[in-house]
Amino acid sequence: MCGIIGYIGNRDCVQIIQAGLSRLAYRGYDSAGIAVCHEGDIDLRRAHGKLENLISLISVDPIRGNTGIGHTRWATHGRPSESNAHPQKYGKFAIVHNGIIENYLELRQELIARGHQFTSETDTEIVVHLIAEAYEGDFAQAVRKALKNVRGSYAIVALCADHPDEIIAARQQSPLIIAKGDAENFVASDVAAVLAYSRQFIFLDDGDIARVTANTIEIFDLDNRKIDRPVKEIQWNLAAAEKQGYPHYMLKEIYEQPQKITDTFRGRILEDEGIINIDEAIDKLEFEKCHRLQIVACGTSYHAGLLGKYLIEKLARIPVDVDVASEYRYRNPIITPNDGFIAISQSGETADTYACLKIAREHGAKILSICNVMDSTIPRASDATFYTRADPEIGVASTKAFTTQLASLILLAIHFARKLGMIDADYTRHLLNALRAIPSQMEAILESSDDVRLVARKLLRANSFLYLGRNVHYPIALEGALKLKEITYIHAEAYPSGEMKHGPIALIDDRLPVIVIAPKNSTYEKTLSNLQEVKARNGRIISIVTEGDDMLTRVSEHAFTIPECDEIVQPFLSVLYLQLLAYHIADLLGNDVDQPRNLAKSVTVE
Ligand code: M6R
Repeated sequence: MCGIIGYIGNRDCVQIIQAGLSRLAYRGYDSAGIAVCHEGDIDLRRAHGKLENLISLISVDPIRGNTGIGHTRWATHGRPSESNAHPQKYGKFAIVHNGIIENYLELRQELIARGHQFTSETDTEIVVHLIAEAYEGDFAQAVRKALKNVRGSYAIVALCADHPDEIIAARQQSPLIIAKGDAENFVASDVAAVLAYSRQFIFLDDGDIARVTANTIEIFDLDNRKIDRPVKEIQWNLAAAEKQGYPHYMLKEIYEQPQKITDTFRGRILEDEGIINIDEAIDKLEFEKCHRLQIVACGTSYHAGLLGKYLIEKLARIPVDVDVASEYRYRNPIITPNDGFIAISQSGETADTYACLKIAREHGAKILSICNVMDSTIPRASDATFYTRADPEIGVASTKAFTTQLASLILLAIHFARKLGMIDADYTRHLLNALRAIPSQMEAILESSDDVRLVARKLLRANSFLYLGRNVHYPIALEGALKLKEITYIHAEAYPSGEMKHGPIALIDDRLPVIVIAPKNSTYEKTLSNLQEVKARNGRIISIVTEGDDMLTRVSEHAFTIPECDEIVQPFLSVLYLQLLAYHIADLLGNDVDQPRNLAKSVTVE
């Protein structure tokens, strides 16, 4: 979400910043902007839309300078527009920011009460006002003081017209690096932006504040104690670094999931109080009082919706229907003002999902969306939006968007259940504890990617796969089959394990890989019987089981394990194996993993 860059040295910074922004564009392209220190002031150019718009603007209305900052935006607070574009400037100061200032509303009110006027809807603008307010001649000190008031995540780079010979950078939970040059230095969101100029990097840590001049880099903590950070030599080539060293965006996004789940949960889980902290706009919809909830989505988002039904019905006991949007819109659906309508969409632009939302609106239902892309069509048309905070997803095969949708749905399910008194504080705490453990459990599973590749190699020649799961794992089976189809072009289908005897068992032979998701949970023993039936017909079983499950491991050609954990957490872990399996098969087959044939990331037509 957003790319930021800063330059200080003897060269014309505008060229360097523009080039860096073009390497950061995958992080967002809602708007772009550049600010430079020039003759005791700050010159600013910003443009709504892609970087090309900014470049055209600068070509007709040039700016020049040796110290500057730049930004390419993926909108979070405030719709994409020129006024919401960064850098945000106030008086002698300008900043670029990547992250979310969680207490910005509170700080904004306080600043307004002290006479400040705002020109944007961004959370970022409050930071530049705080810096200006704290400034008494020492630029770094002003940034330090300002950031002490701020809660949330940020990577910022700041300019001050009084100090054209320094830039100040700070990091808290959003990436920021410094690249060392010869009589010049660079700050950026990632290595890719400046790899053309330097191979020597300092990776800032949370709480670091750096004062960077053309010849010096000093790093301090928030209490002004000096810190040493190692300089690392990076040998990546430019193209690889765009994917942060991963061969494909999809693999990078698979590995990002533990962090993205953390981001989805950030500020929303109040473990001590045993409650979910939900946006007021969502809470006001009072979905827990609805007679029924209607979830509508497409593809991977639909699978998240299916799991949402299990979770909401299990915990909150509210009836939930789930539909594929392209079916729902043409079957004259029954929806009333007593219903709550939930649209799930990563992009927020899917045409069928949007069409269903409009139908629900016409019937007077209240509308909540679960989306990743800020201010896209579906959130704009909703009464409230739960943002998944997955950051831009570039790989066409959805991975982190899915697990952050699951994370969002779990939070909503717990919230509704709590408000209805369906679960008590102790059980809520137990659930919240289980959720907190997910990122580290995911990390551990991702370490077994090489094992998954070995298994993938053995399955390359299969021309069809069957995925089986029950209960919370049926939607995961569907998702696993979709991932495989999308990027390997091998046929796959998913069934609830209990349906085997009603038809699909006829498919079983010694050539059909059957991927079974069967960790220990409430339906484990039933699944075990289904597996014995597959085994008795010489089926090739690849299973996902709970650690220590010797029984299932014995009947499987290969068993992947997940730790013992609550049933509601299991899907987050089992789906990782299925994503990795699809990825490795596709990669071994030599397919274009990130841009599979016939597909587009965002389906904006029927
Ligand atoms: O942006 P959306 O979540 O609305 O997109 C829905 C589907 O097009 C999307 O999930 C698609 O199925 C993915 N390519 C699956 O990996």
